[in-house]
Amino acid sequence: MPPVLEVDDIYVSYGRIPAIRGVSLTVDEGEIVSLVGPNGAGKSTTLMTVAGALVPTKGAVRLKGHPITGHAPENIARLGVSFVPEGRHVFTQLTVEENIRLGTDMRRDKDAIEADFERVLSYFPFLRERLSTPGGKLSGGEQQQLVIGRALMTAPKIILVDEPSLGLGPIIVDRVYEIFHRLREAGNTLLVVEQSTHRALQNADRIYVLRSGRIELSGSSRDLTDEQLEFAYFGFDSPVGQGGGPHP
Ligand SMILES: Nc1ncnc2c1ncn2[C@@H]1O[C@H](COP(=O)(O)OP(=O)(O)O)[C@@H](O)[C@H]1O
Ligand SMILES: [Mg+2]
Repeated sequence: MPPVLEVDDIYVSYGRIPAIRGVSLTVDEGEIVSLVGPNGAGKSTTLMTVAGALVPTKGAVRLKGHPITGHAPENIARLGVSFVPEGRHVFTQLTVEENIRLGTDMRRDKDAIEADFERVLSYFPFLRERLSTPGGKLSGGEQQQLVIGRALMTAPKIILVDEPSLGLGPIIVDRVYEIFHRLREAGNTLLVVEQSTHRALQNADRIYVLRSGRIELSGSSRDLTDEQLEFAYFGFDSPVGQGGGPHP
């Protein structure tokens, strides 16, 4: 079976400035994969390219083996890629319920939608009491959970989440990751962008370290250490790394 997501040697530039140079990664069904790296490494660029908001100058993106490179974002979303961008994007004037149901705009299976709506509320019980509250009244942590709920309403094949922990306190971050684990147990597939190697190691099945637009290190969380990850992240030569050395 092909991986759910296959990013195959993609290059993306802003104007003439290259942002990522030859990024490859895969995400298998039922995995949490973490893409970790410092500010400016190209993490958001990678996710935006998968979601179709950016088009690579070279390379391919495949969803379950089918090329989606260069497809329009709405088509990619319809094919099952749900993108939760950095900064959460809750519509502050819309109610919580309206915000959640935005995820169903392109679905036709109305009965399944209601079942999924109940499922989202079972993941995030606090939302049930707040369904008619404007989205803008929720705290940052609640908004992060709301947008994950919205992503689930699209019945995605994969959920891409860009820096879910940004600006949230440690307890809320733990709560968000707890949800990711429950989602994975329910068969969902996630690619999560993260700045903390430590958190990636604690939560992901597999990790890719991105630095200066290239994958510096990758592997199973079981096989990687905090030290190896930090070497790759900060760009030192790793004495023990798998591919942690400098690129030519
Ligand atoms: N809209 C843009 N225009 C020009 N350069 C950009 C733009 N967005 C990002 N970049 C540059 O591309 C590189 C990768 O950025 P980004 O993907 O946002 O990194 P990350 O998400 O890892 O912090 C950085 O050098 C950044 O300055
Ligand atoms: Mg980013």
